[in-house]
Amino acid sequence: MNLRNGSIALAAVAAIAALMLPPGLFEARAQSSDATPLYPQSGFGAASGVVVYQAICQGCHMPAGEGALGAGEYPALAGNPKLAAAPYVAMMVLDGHAGMPGFGHMLDDRQVAEVVAYVRTHFGNDYPDALAPEDVKSLRQ
Ligand code: HEC
Repeated sequence: MNLRNGSIALAAVAAIAALMLPPGLFEARAQSSDATPLYPQSGFGAASGVVVYQAICQGCHMPAGEGALGAGEYPALAGNPKLAAAPYVAMMVLDGHAGMPGFGHMLDDRQVAEVVAYVRTHFGNDYPDALAPEDVKSLRQ
């Protein structure tokens, strides 16, 4: 088969494949990319604390904040008394420590405040005193 026929055959295969795709597929894609840009793509835009948790934190700290032991040690956030100190949690999110990278460059002050509030009020934690975005701002290096 020569090159020209080969590319016509490929184009035909691609056209047939496109016709066979389920009709909802393209709309579904457009919707999900509008809603939730996922780590490590840049720009979380308007993502709220819970979305930030699911996109960034739960990969290491697990969906219920239970932590994990494996190639590394990922402390549980569930029932963790250190979460009583909101600025400590915010500093961890901004700057990281040891095996945890910092996310201060990816998240704005409101998002840091929200994800901190999220982990401090979920997973059995009950610390309703929330940081304001201005508090986060003052904690940035
Ligand atoms: C790449 C894995 C990873 C990601 C992603 C991650 N962490 Fe961590 N986190 C760790 C590790 C490892 C530690 C322990 C660091 C240390 O030894 O100081 C830690 C520690 C913490 C601590 C301190 C716990 C303690 O007992 O002192 C908090 C709070 C925390 N992470 C919150 C978060 C939040 C909130 C997010 C999402 C914004 C997040 N982490 C994302 C790996 C991660």
